[in-house]
Order: sequence, then structure tokens, then C-alpha cells
Amino acid sequence: MIKLHDLEFEPFISEGEITKAIDRISEELNADYDGKIPVFIGVLNGSFMFASEVIKRFRSDCEVSFVKMGSYEGTETTGNVRTLVGLNQELKGREVVLLEDIVDTGNTLVEIDEILKKAEVASYKVATLFFKPAAYKKNVPVQIKGIEIPDKFIVGFGLDYDGLGRNLTQVYKRKENKMTNLVLFGPPGAGKGTQATILKDKYQLVHISTGDVFRFNIKNQTELGLSAKSYIDKGQLVPDEVTINMLNAEVEKNEGANGFIFDGFPRTEAQAEALSKYLESKGTEVHAMIALEVEDEILVERLLERGKTSGRPDDADEAVIRNRIKVYYNETAILKNYYQKQDKYYGVNGVGSIEEITERLSKVIDELMK
Ligand code: IMP
Ligand code: MG
Repeated sequence: MIKLHDLEFEPFISEGEITKAIDRISEELNADYDGKIPVFIGVLNGSFMFASEVIKRFRSDCEVSFVKMGSYEGTETTGNVRTLVGLNQELKGREVVLLEDIVDTGNTLVEIDEILKKAEVASYKVATLFFKPAAYKKNVPVQIKGIEIPDKFIVGFGLDYDGLGRNLTQVYKRKENKMTNLVLFGPPGAGKGTQATILKDKYQLVHISTGDVFRFNIKNQTELGLSAKSYIDKGQLVPDEVTINMLNAEVEKNEGANGFIFDGFPRTEAQAEALSKYLESKGTEVHAMIALEVEDEILVERLLERGKTSGRPDDADEAVIRNRIKVYYNETAILKNYYQKQDKYYGVNGVGSIEEITERLSKVIDELMK
């Protein structure tokens, strides 16, 4: 395993496999361009190693150029087209072979395609060392593919992570963190607390309740707790940044966990974004937002019942209860939409016995953990 900046990578494709792929690509090019004097164009920076290997194996005459994607130029009326820095060669009527280290979404390729068509090349082919079929969404044909890989981030053999890794002679893949992270949602009275406690034991997850984290930090006068308290004392909302930092600290404390159940967080899209960014930096993500769905009338009934024994004043007054439910739906609507867009929203019927509801939640989680 190696580390580049903050990320860990594990060996993925050996030098031998890469050499084999390059041999194959080179033989295809030798056959296709025998006696034709093609222009090889390597797309920098990533393709320098691959281009060098292919060109060394080419047996006829050829020309070699390297380009780099430049900035956008043009006017609003002509549309903006990116330039290729270094393309100072007349390509009209030439047979061009584009050498790419990797084709991922294909965005880069589409831009180069436009430029080459404008240059009136006689023909052009794309040869890429690595290709991600699951990520590729474009129609520009990629005729020659070295190694097809899943939609994962790789480094080495010219490819970098934030500038590092290009010199590695084999390819490494971003190390994945096999956690399951859930955002648990439910209106007041839905039985969220009960279910979180059961699920955390059943799946060995760490339950992070924002309320508990706040109380812990304030009670123990941690730096973040004091910061949060200063806002609370002024009657202001605690800024997202302070909240997310507290939660991050909580996640850090539980390194090696199977995953987390986030409870009471995120509450806003900004928080959801921050959480997703943070988990991404840990090589993981939010896998699902699971919401317990219970009709308002049943919630009101349950909470009034609880109020009789809990002594919580906010459980005793029907108007207060109804308002808490309304606030919940205003918040949830935004987040439901946010996670739904990513296909991560799961609504679960929250009416039934505790066991029945656990069963329904488990179905979702089992599927996620497969
Ligand atoms: P595109 O998404 O096909 O336009 O890929 C554009 C560029 O993203 C490539 O030329 C690479 O520089 C970079 N890239 C895509 N996938 C990876 C990867 O897995 N590792 C490193 N760089 C990548
Ligand atoms: Mg590239």
C-alpha cells in the first residue's frame, strides 16, 4: 500500500499486465498504419509514459506531438471551445492517432474531437491505455482500448492524484473503505431512537446523535463545545462548520468502525454536502438516508401518550407537537430531495411493532451491505 497526500492506494495493475496491453495496442497500430506516416498526439500530462512506450514500438515513420488541454476561448455567439496548447502543427489531411492515458467520462475526448474535426484531419483514431466503461457517457468512438477498469480512481504509469503518482511503474487503486453509513430520519415519535439503538448493536455501527455530541462537547468543555456554547448563549444557531467539525471528531474517534448511523444530522443541504465531502476524504460515503414514515395523527397520539409519563413539556402540548412535526417535514423535504437525486433515499413504514419496523429497516441495510 502507498500513500499520496491524504489518500491510500493499493496495487491494482502490475507492470507486466501494462506491458502486455501496450504490446497489443502497438501491434494493432503497426498493422493499421504500416507505411502511412501517422501523427501521434499524446495528451499531456498523463499520457507521457504510455505515449513513449507505444511510439518506441512503432516500426514505420511517424511524427510525434504532445498537447495539453488549454483554457476556453471564443465568444458567446460562436460558443466556447477549449484550445489544445502545443498544437502548432498543420494536421490537415493527416492520419492522427490520439494517445490517451485514460478515458473516463469522455468529456476531454469530446473537446479534442471537435478540435481535430475543425483541423480537417484525414482520419483519427483514439488509443487509450485505460478505459472506464461504466463512466464513459459519450459517443466519440474509442477504437483501441488497453485495459478496461471499473469506475475507480487509479494512479501510476503517468496518472496522478493531485500531482503525485505519475512516476509509479505499476497502477494503484484508491483504497476503499468498506463502511456502511446511514442517515436515519424520522419525525418526532417515529421510534428513531429505539431503532437506532437496535440497529447499532445488530450491525456493529456507531450511533452518532447530534444532540448527544453537542451535550458531550459542552459538558466536557472541549474547544468545539465552547465554541458551540458561545452561539447558543447568544441565542444564535450553531454554524454548520462547528457542527460538522464536532461530528468529524466523533468519526475520527471511531476509526475502524463498520460504519455510522447519523441521527439528527444533516439538517440542511449545506450540512449534507459537508458530510459527503468529509466521508469522501475518508474513502467512503453516505450510503443511504432511511426515513421512518408515520402518519401525523399517529405521531400526535404517540407523543401525547409519551408526554403523560416522560414529563417532557414538549410532549404534552398538541400545538407544540404539531409544530415539531411540521418543522421536521420542512427539513426532510429538502434532504429527501437531495438524497433521492442520488438514489439514496429509502422510506420505511414506521407503523407497527418494534420488531416489525426493525425487520423493514434491516431489509434496506442488508441490501446496502451486500
Ligand atoms: P474524462 O473524464 O474522460 O474527460 O477524463 C479526463 C481526465 O481525468 C483524464 O485525462 C485524467 O487526467 C483524469 N482522470 C480520469 N480518471 C482518472 C483516474 O482514475 N486517475 C487519475 N486521473 C484520472
Ligand atoms: Mg489525460
